[in-house]
Amino acid sequence: ARIRHYKWEIKYEYKSPDCFKKLTITINGRSPGPTILAQQGDTVVVEVKNSLPTENTAIHWHGIRQRGTPWSDGTEGVTQCPILPGDTFIYKFVVDKAGTFLYHAHYGMQRQEGLVGTIIVSLPEGESEPFTYDHDHNILLTDWYHKSTSDQAIGLSSIPFVFVGEPQSVLINGRGRFNCSLLGPSNSVKEVCSTTNSDCSPYVLTVKPGKTSRLRIGSLTSLSTLSFQVEGHKMIVVEADGHYVEPFEVENLYIYSGETYSVLLKANQDLSRNYWITINVVGRKPSTPLGLAILNYLPNPPKTLPKTVPPPGPVWNHTSSRKSQSHAIKARHGFIQTPPPKADRVIVLLNTQNTMDGYTKWSLNNVSLTLPITPYLIALKYKLTNAFDDQTSPPENYDSANYDIYSIPRNVNATSGNAIYKLDFNSTVDVILQNANTMNPENSETHPWHLHGHNFWVLGFGDGKFDRERDGKKLNLVNPILKNTVPLHPYGWTALRFQADNPGVWIFHCHIESHFYMGMAVVFQEGVSMVGKLPSSILGCGATKGFRRP
Ligand code: C2O
Ligand code: CU
Repeated sequence: ARIRHYKWEIKYEYKSPDCFKKLTITINGRSPGPTILAQQGDTVVVEVKNSLPTENTAIHWHGIRQRGTPWSDGTEGVTQCPILPGDTFIYKFVVDKAGTFLYHAHYGMQRQEGLVGTIIVSLPEGESEPFTYDHDHNILLTDWYHKSTSDQAIGLSSIPFVFVGEPQSVLINGRGRFNCSLLGPSNSVKEVCSTTNSDCSPYVLTVKPGKTSRLRIGSLTSLSTLSFQVEGHKMIVVEADGHYVEPFEVENLYIYSGETYSVLLKANQDLSRNYWITINVVGRKPSTPLGLAILNYLPNPPKTLPKTVPPPGPVWNHTSSRKSQSHAIKARHGFIQTPPPKADRVIVLLNTQNTMDGYTKWSLNNVSLTLPITPYLIALKYKLTNAFDDQTSPPENYDSANYDIYSIPRNVNATSGNAIYKLDFNSTVDVILQNANTMNPENSETHPWHLHGHNFWVLGFGDGKFDRERDGKKLNLVNPILKNTVPLHPYGWTALRFQADNPGVWIFHCHIESHFYMGMAVVFQEGVSMVGKLPSSILGCGATKGFRRP
């Protein structure tokens, strides 16, 4: 195994990813940042210099389990103190599993400012994938706002509440297109929005006729669920969150924030032209234009726009097709890791939108998470008993017999908390995510849930209220896929199982930036006594001031 060394400088720069000029967080001048390439078993070392003038940061390696290095998870408030402006922090971890993963800022809502990227871990020498392809391409999808993150964060935590709203554009590998004419006719607009800016020329994916490409598609949107489509081509889904999928064919791929997929695309259409690649917002009524890229068949010129109309993608509220895709994702034959037959503990999490002293929040069983100043990992390891509420355990359930998930909650008040679930080391835990109506009539949202430090088996999805007797018997224990991010569909439930076998403290949260910011998260701890000596670089904040020695 090798050591892969990366040296990154994080800073703000003016960029025009959708033609509109905006401060963007870049890594070595780029957003998305450089792709981390490594081989299974390698150690990745990333030296991060925070050159943001006035903001802290932290970077999370999404999908990497951090076995033995829980302090490198990059989650501010949970596993480390923030990296202060001017400071350099070194992340060091082993990539123990081949596949497609992501990285992004994990400090407030900073991710949406552009601090995002992809991690590709290849198989060890001599091993090969159970499918073949000629070329490998990366496609990272994001949504983009013209307002700054701090502006948005302040709106979310104000009375009256100001929602972030729909994004101005959606980006494919950091490129999209905003309609500059919406800003008015004046000449001065050209300064801030120009469609001739090379930052926003569409991404071009070049293929050779007859060849098969593996597209590694990841989503790090802040809000949007997307549908990805290539005009005139079908795709075969083969990987999800680093695990092989029993292959199935799709016309469009739904992808939730925090997920990765690999699809195989064969260049078997009309060789004399280029095709559109499109992404469109689903799940929420969109007001964001299609995202466009070009599929370029060699030897056609790469920038020739197809003369056809870009496919608009599925309608936003076609929920049943999204659910069918969720149901279709199963572990690939020959690569099935069967889950333990039963759980030692079942935690049911009711997802609701609430108010708390007039503020709008999201909560689980009516508790909205507020991260403590002293990161949990440090507080537990150093037994800093006043750092958070370590005396109570958050609720394991909600009053399901008396709760109507189809109407606005009778009592919308939530409480804020920072207590965490203590899991027995090596125990098997089931989590049932239960969706419900928001505070708006006839509205239930989609939440992509992401677990740090583990992969979980996706045991099932269903509509309505989860019933232990009826639904508990129908869970898939035969060939469930292992993932790290999974959607919870409107008015439905999602059942997961994982083994609490990774000593550390791990957050489990909705991957929508604003929902996470508004408290949509819980924290698990397991085996903290087995965690090795914490590096002093993660210390320094809250109750650990003065702990840090050079
Ligand atoms: Cu990709 Cu805690 O997130
Ligand atoms: Cu959410």
